[in-house]
Amino acid sequence: MSPSGASDPDPHPILPYARQWIDESDIAAVADVLRSDFLTQGPAIERFERALCATTGASHAVAVSSGTAALHLACLALDFGPGRTGVTSPITFAASANCFLYAGGAAAFADVDPATGALQPAALDERLHEFAALGAPPGVVVAVSLAGRAAALPELAAVCARHGWTLVEDAAHSLGATYRDPATGATRSSASCTHTRAAILSFHPVKHICAGEGGAIVTNDAALAQRLRRLRTHGIEKPDSAELPAGEGGWFYEQRELGYHYRMTDIQAALGASQLARLPEFLARRREIARGYAESLTGAPFDRVLRAPAFEGDHAYHLYVVHFRSRELRRAAYDFLAARGIRSQVHYIPVYRHPHYRRVSGEIRLPGAESWYEGCLSLPLFPKMTVADQARVVDALRAFAQTHG
Ligand SMILES: Cc1ncc(COP(=O)(O)O)c(C=O)c1O
Repeated sequence: MSPSGASDPDPHPILPYARQWIDESDIAAVADVLRSDFLTQGPAIERFERALCATTGASHAVAVSSGTAALHLACLALDFGPGRTGVTSPITFAASANCFLYAGGAAAFADVDPATGALQPAALDERLHEFAALGAPPGVVVAVSLAGRAAALPELAAVCARHGWTLVEDAAHSLGATYRDPATGATRSSASCTHTRAAILSFHPVKHICAGEGGAIVTNDAALAQRLRRLRTHGIEKPDSAELPAGEGGWFYEQRELGYHYRMTDIQAALGASQLARLPEFLARRREIARGYAESLTGAPFDRVLRAPAFEGDHAYHLYVVHFRSRELRRAAYDFLAARGIRSQVHYIPVYRHPHYRRVSGEIRLPGAESWYEGCLSLPLFPKMTVADQARVVDALRAFAQTHG
């Protein structure tokens, strides 16, 4: 308390590394659903799915309960299962690899570019050659568009095509990102499925748009989309009246395979659609903040302790990741920022280092992934962050560089 009795302002209010931005239009959209006839399996889901197609350019979207559920169903719908292997990047959230295990297959990893954390086409090629030499059947590759930069999808697609493997994009971080198609020179959207069979999205509150929790699979393959819709609701389909078996009525449905209850509610879908309408504003602000970091964190005194990546216009900036020059400096910087109320995060601990993966996949160390993990730190970045918030981060890092260089 101050002498006047008023509470002193907190000298270090918490600045999270990410958070959602809900406004009155989002609240109104959710309230409309709460007043409507459908809380789930109603019209808000279809509206959200249509909006996702319009944003990504993919022809079909299937909304589900999380990005993790989307990955699981993508594997099942692609007939990935026991006896198959899935390959992904080790620099990702565990869900990108867990999906292979949920489906009864095995998980393997190919190395990343240490500068970007992205799956390297040459490393994937080598890995798929190894599987071919062992006589293993083709499996699924999950390419992660890490931090908001589209993975090298055309190149990875060419590698997969050579080996007969199926490519899926994990676009949980990259809604709104674009990349150049080298074959045509055209600009493509992440999750457009131009070079993949399917892509998955996540609507967790730290992502570009949020639905509370939620996810979706997008694809240009109508049959795959139909199977995904069946799998998200127990494997059940309800035939049209013309296709009803003799003697059956309007009550009739059939469980045609083993599916799951992975449905999204209309409450979530309404929030997701309202947020999606705000995506351009969110993206613009994310890019503005990333540009600010790129411009502010280069030169003295920052160069002595960290490398700040240059701004890229086609990046969707879910994260802005700097690299400290050593593991010790990264650790010290994380603590230095935390002591000033500034939250940062490490994206990611290589998935193969987790105890579960050491048990199921053995002891793995990939040099690119280890190098990325050693120094990476994600700075606060979210659309509602203010200019003053960002200045606080830059000033704290300047103070850190002056004392630790
Ligand atoms: C790269 C990546 N893939 C998949 C997921 C899973 O998404 P969800 O949390 O919606 O299940 C996440 C979530 O953080 C992620 O970061």
